[in-house]
Amino acid sequence: MEYRGAHQAFRRRWKKTDNDLCRHSMSFVLHNTLRHDFFASYLYLLEQIPLVKLFAVTCEYIDGEKQFYARAQDFYKDVPASVEGMMGDFVELSEVDLESSRQFLKKFVGGPGKAGTKCALDCGCGIGRVSKNVLLPIFETMEMADMMEEFLLHAHECYLGDDADRIETYYCYNLQELTPPLNKYDVIWMQWVACHLTDRDLMEFLIKCKASLKPNGVIIIKDNMARQGCKLDPIDSSVIRHLDIMKSIIVKAGLNVIGVEKQEGFPEQMVPIWMIAMQ
Ligand SMILES: C[S@@+](CC[C@H](N)C(=O)[O-])C[C@H]1O[C@@H](n2cnc3c(N)ncnc32)[C@H](O)[C@@H]1O
Repeated sequence: MEYRGAHQAFRRRWKKTDNDLCRHSMSFVLHNTLRHDFFASYLYLLEQIPLVKLFAVTCEYIDGEKQFYARAQDFYKDVPASVEGMMGDFVELSEVDLESSRQFLKKFVGGPGKAGTKCALDCGCGIGRVSKNVLLPIFETMEMADMMEEFLLHAHECYLGDDADRIETYYCYNLQELTPPLNKYDVIWMQWVACHLTDRDLMEFLIKCKASLKPNGVIIIKDNMARQGCKLDPIDSSVIRHLDIMKSIIVKAGLNVIGVEKQEGFPEQMVPIWMIAMQ
């Protein structure tokens, strides 16, 4: 009887947790630990307790962090090098997304006191959907960074066409291991990739990005933002953070938010997407 009671209790808990991860007990324990730590950390952050609490998952659970990144690698191995692959199930929204990005970027580039138009860096660029349609029409040269070699090759050999001649460097790197050159970029664009970095790595990467901006240079993050708290997606290993949480990380990286705008024109039932400009 005692055994059956315990079994039922476990079953109830398992039901609530991700099906795939729960098949093996180690994954179950890890998933629970990660989830517990993520939520505890964000709760602490929302209550303005120092950021060190935010790092619990990345500081203390190195194995968890390794899994977080390994799972994203696994996920993108099966993603096709195409606009469909970059947009998931929402390929028809690509043009709406790009047009809003072009309008948002205009506010910070070209003109007195604004960023120049010499060079931009596209981080987590994929096949270069944003590079081609938002950045290359404005910047003389560009650099692109992504962890998937296949995406970068497709960008260079096919997707960018003649514009590929204006890509100075392709960095096939995990962003958490990349140190971009100092004082080089007018704009650094990060779309749908901040969500793939842990809090600590995102903050550290933003610090490095700040050092690689030219005077008046701007960093722009465009990403899904949770309506409340944060949500870990164990399939593609992404963290959807509330806008305030994202802003806290930005501020901790020593950057000032200079513009924030919600992406309009996407279905209401989708997770909200926000653009944040900082320097
Ligand atoms: C959803 S796609 C978005 C691509 C592009 N930014 C766009 O909007 O079309 C996410 C991209 O981030 C890349 N990525 C994910 N985690 C990364 C990491 N830790 N370092 C570098 N690139 C990463 C993936 O390989 C993929 O190309």
